[in-house]
Amino acid sequence: MSSPNLNKDLRSDTQQLHRHHQDYDLVDNDGKSNNSQLISSGSKLNYGDVPSELEGQSFPLTAHDALASPSDNFEEVQLTPEEADRRALQDVKAAFLFYKTHSLNSFVRHRLRAIDALSDAHRALISEAGVIDKILRVEKAIRANNTFLQTILAVNGGLVTDVAGAGSSHSSCGEDVIPRDLIRQFFAERRQRGLSPAREHHLDKLRSTLRQFVRDWSAEGQAERQQTYTPLLDELDSQFGHLSMSDRAKINVLIPGAGLGRLSFEIASRGYSCQGNEFSYFMLLSSNFILNFPSKPNEFSLYPFIHTFSNAISADAQLRPAHVPDVLPSSLLRKHQSEVDFSMVAGDFIEVYGQPDQAGKWDAVVTCFFMDTAKNPVDYLDTLWNALRPGGVWINLGPLLWHFENMPGEQSIELTRDEFFGIATTRGFKFDHSKFRPTISLSYTADPQNMLEYRYKCFLSVAYRP
Ligand SMILES: C[S@@+](CC[C@H](N)C(=O)[O-])C[C@H]1O[C@@H](n2cnc3c(N)ncnc32)[C@H](O)[C@@H]1O
Repeated sequence: MSSPNLNKDLRSDTQQLHRHHQDYDLVDNDGKSNNSQLISSGSKLNYGDVPSELEGQSFPLTAHDALASPSDNFEEVQLTPEEADRRALQDVKAAFLFYKTHSLNSFVRHRLRAIDALSDAHRALISEAGVIDKILRVEKAIRANNTFLQTILAVNGGLVTDVAGAGSSHSSCGEDVIPRDLIRQFFAERRQRGLSPAREHHLDKLRSTLRQFVRDWSAEGQAERQQTYTPLLDELDSQFGHLSMSDRAKINVLIPGAGLGRLSFEIASRGYSCQGNEFSYFMLLSSNFILNFPSKPNEFSLYPFIHTFSNAISADAQLRPAHVPDVLPSSLLRKHQSEVDFSMVAGDFIEVYGQPDQAGKWDAVVTCFFMDTAKNPVDYLDTLWNALRPGGVWINLGPLLWHFENMPGEQSIELTRDEFFGIATTRGFKFDHSKFRPTISLSYTADPQNMLEYRYKCFLSVAYRP
């Protein structure tokens, strides 16, 4: 991988958060729930019995409580790019490790308290309906997610940045994978440096990352992938599918904003050489894990939908696991191993592919839900122009949900679809209007069993650098 430069991710993360210091307890005694006594009738809940990380008042209680501390504000601290990179990685690791404590507070304790405050009659009704059971199942699912998340960290070197891994790679469901003394030390150091345990915004991203695993690497994500990735793959094949497999391997395809890498993987498994590019450590750690580590299909289970209590049709739906990976990346890629070049490059798209050494290197660039991540989309167009060889094709699918719109202190240039096409055309791209599809209805990391569904009317466009 090229050297990651994730400064932008960090800088975008400096929204003012309500600040206050809280002590926090990060490691429970045995990693196991003591909540069995709570699975009872309508009697008062006994908080003395909840696991130790839920005891006392020593850490934030709800998802809305502030997690940031004063020195979390990047702008207040002058860091070199290398320091900022290291800090970004440490912040992401902090979110992975704080997930359990934060989630048990936000999604379990908070709810048990609300039920506890009810009248006896209401509490009995709620309990008989299975609501308390559901919350206790959520607790177990949080612990299973914690195991999954810590496995990702362990595979990526654990808490040791420069030396090879800390922590064993496999652990049974619900247990910590990273040794506890290392976790304690990690958070003690953060506290010493005046840093919060983790940032709210990062915990949010972590929960989205779990859903991204469903989109890219579970059987349940198949429908979303079929709708989203197939039009892009079909278009790529319509450009290069006539080539023999050995000639296809000479076609270099770039995927900026590759996420967890499934689209890149599909392109490589069709015989094209493919490079994914990402700048988020959430995605980089997770894609490295899923592409390289599993030894059999569906080896890992996670519970991606437990954090949303609204619009659930049943407890079983909310608590259903996803199993990943639905296919084993290593086995499929072995087919083309000798010829196809498949890689992931860490770094900012503009910084990496705007360079002279990337000029004209790519036969195709495929952007999927990516163009609207730009602060200034013209920078992305310039970078695409630089990276594509003359005659190279840019295939794009997505909405225009400008990621930096209304973000305090951030530059954001938002374009309508018409403006987007107008500027790209003036910049020199030649669109094939016969291929334009204006309204492909797509979801993004949706829970198909939830009563709420967002859909984007995405457009597909195909353009060439003449
Ligand atoms: C909306 S997600 C789409 C992910 C993937 N293409 C998919 O369809 O599932 C956008 C991705 O682009 C990445 N990204 C945003 N800006 C980037 C940049 N400047 N350089 C590299 N990656 C970037 C984000 O980290 C995120 O993973």
